[in-house]
Amino acid sequence: PDGLSELLLSRVREVPDYPKPGIAFKDITPLLADPEAFGALVEALATLARELGATKIVGLEARGFILGAPVALAAGAGFIPVRKAGKLPGATLAQSYDLEYGSAEIEIHAEDLTADDRVLVVDDVLATGGTAEAAISLVRRTGAGLVGLAVLMELGFLPGGERVRKALGDAPYQALLTV
Ligand code: PRP
Ligand code: MG
Repeated sequence: PDGLSELLLSRVREVPDYPKPGIAFKDITPLLADPEAFGALVEALATLARELGATKIVGLEARGFILGAPVALAAGAGFIPVRKAGKLPGATLAQSYDLEYGSAEIEIHAEDLTADDRVLVVDDVLATGGTAEAAISLVRRTGAGLVGLAVLMELGFLPGGERVRKALGDAPYQALLTV
C-alpha cells in the first residue's frame, strides 16, 4: 500500500467481538483523533470531489457526517445529510432497505438538491452496500446528477463493492482501503 493507505490503516482500530461475538468492528475514532491522518483522509476525498466536479457532498448518518462535512468545505461544495427516518423536518424523500434482521429507512431533503447539482456520496465503511445503495437511489430520485460514491474502507469479504458498482452504473466508486 502507498503512504496514505498505510497511514489510514494504521489509525483504524479493530475491536474483536463488537458489537456481537464473531464481528471484528473497524473503529475509526483513532483516525479522527489524529489531525495528520484525518487531514490526509479529508484531502484525499476532497481531491476526488474536485476531480469529479462535485457541487454537493451527501453524507450518510452518522459516521458519513464526520467525513462528509469537512470534505464538502475543502472541495468548495455544499453538504447534504442523509438521515435515519424521522429526523428531517422538511419535505423528504424516503428509501427503505433490508438489514440482516428487518429493515431500515433513510431520508433526504429533496429541495436542497437541483437538477444542476453533481453529487458525491460519502461514507466511512461499505459492508453489504445496502446503506450506500439506498442513498444512491435517494439521490437519483431527487433528479440531481450522481457523480460517484467514496468510502474510507470496504469490507472486502462482503460483496458490497459489486452491489454498489451495479447501482452506480457509469459513476465511479472509490474505496481508499479494502480491509
Ligand atoms: C455503518 C457504516 C455504514 C454502514 C455500512 O453505519 O457507518 O454507514 O453501516 O453497512 P452496509 O454497507 O451493510 O449498509 P451504521 O448504520 O452502523 O451506523 P452509524 O454510521 O450511525 O454509526
Ligand atoms: Mg453509517
